[in-house]
Amino acid sequence: MSRQQHFGWFLARGFGPHGWGHPSLDWDYDWTSPALYQQAVRTLEQAGFDLLIIEDAPSLGSASTIDLRVRQAFGGPKLDPLLLAPYLFAATERIGIVPTVNPAAYLPYTAARQFATLQHLSGHRLGLNVVTDTGSARHFGTAPQLGHDAAYDRAEEWTSAVVALWRSWPEGALIAHPDAGRYADGALLQPTRHRGEYFSFDGPLNAIPFTDGAPVIVSPGGSPRGLGFAGANSDVQLALAPMTEQSVRAYRGRIHDAAIAAGRSPDDITILFAIQPTVVSSAEEADRLVAASHHPDDDVLRRIAERQSSDLETDLTGLDLDRPLDRGIFGEHVSHGSIQRLIGTHDEDASLREILTAHARLGRIRDGSGWVGTAVELADRIEEYGAWGNDGVLLWGDLHPVTVHRTLDELVPILRRRGILRREYEPTLRANLRPF
Ligand SMILES: Cc1cc2nc3c(=O)[nH]c(=O)nc-3n(C[C@H](O)[C@H](O)[C@H](O)COP(=O)(O)O)c2cc1C
Repeated sequence: MSRQQHFGWFLARGFGPHGWGHPSLDWDYDWTSPALYQQAVRTLEQAGFDLLIIEDAPSLGSASTIDLRVRQAFGGPKLDPLLLAPYLFAATERIGIVPTVNPAAYLPYTAARQFATLQHLSGHRLGLNVVTDTGSARHFGTAPQLGHDAAYDRAEEWTSAVVALWRSWPEGALIAHPDAGRYADGALLQPTRHRGEYFSFDGPLNAIPFTDGAPVIVSPGGSPRGLGFAGANSDVQLALAPMTEQSVRAYRGRIHDAAIAAGRSPDDITILFAIQPTVVSSAEEADRLVAASHHPDDDVLRRIAERQSSDLETDLTGLDLDRPLDRGIFGEHVSHGSIQRLIGTHDEDASLREILTAHARLGRIRDGSGWVGTAVELADRIEEYGAWGNDGVLLWGDLHPVTVHRTLDELVPILRRRGILRREYEPTLRANLRPF
């Protein structure tokens, strides 16, 4: 029997204009209406997925580059996924819903109270994807923007403050038994006075304790500081890494070491590796798609340039495709890592066409060169990850019902027959995430 694994879906680019630029736009879904997301999340629940994670960035980025973000809706607008969550809980019974939250945007007391409310309302199915995007700081006050590691320090203080507030109602404080004639014992509540570097407040929290555990903490950062955060705080780590045995085992080892260093057990953290497959109906179709991607036309390259321009806050769309890319066009705010991801292994003389063509190029799941393949080929790969000791995978994409069906229709029965994908849910998200 194959090893059973956990499955998540990552709604990349968040709660935004869904379907814009999508080949299935004329299905006429309204991205501002909950119906689209409710329909898709019901399918994910039927498929046995543990959770849906919704990306977010609260900001449109720096003032001078807003148009790059919004003109093809790659970087905004985005509505708040925390407020979408109740609609998704109402449409489902078992799947976990994980909005992204940024500690810059919520005071710990407000956060602890709102998340406690959703945890109760959802029957203990809430998770929080805690991110440390620093670019949005200017929307939330006048404090200067934090650096990379300082943002993690603040996120760590924020997370432990939120958890301390959730624990401010200890065992026995809530009585709520008619015979006792008393709802709660206020003398037992913990004052929870917090005086930290970034936050100062007094508790206790004005919310009752959880019967089945606190909301699940999720984190995606892969830097040494990000892994340290995960080791100390996270129940789920979202991993982005080359999907080779060596790299998967090494990443898992780093997270496990971070957990042990923080006094926790490796089993306390479920690691989901992010993958973005394109599932097609036959090997011939996969071969055709891959072959065509080696010779992208200018329209395809312009679309890639639009996406890169949004992500890098630098306009690449007006540049001559056949001239070398001048690296001086990137502003100070663009990280070297992001520029490096665009350029890859190309040298100074490489034209923009060559650089973008490398991003257009697809590969086959079967030989590990990319993510195009049949459902059987994808299931084979996922099964292999299980043999390497992997906990689970995170499928990355939009949440358009067409995408969800195209990806899962054939895959789910295959994974079920092989015993890789759950058939039954536990009562809470936390219980679903336990090691199999
Ligand atoms: C699977 C995945 C999901 C992410 N989701 C978000 C998100 O929703 N919002 C966000 O601002 N950053 C998101 N990030 C970026 C991370 O929060 C982080 O900024 C990035 O990984 C850099 O952090 P690091 O230097 O610790 O790796 C995501 C990253 C990954 C790999």
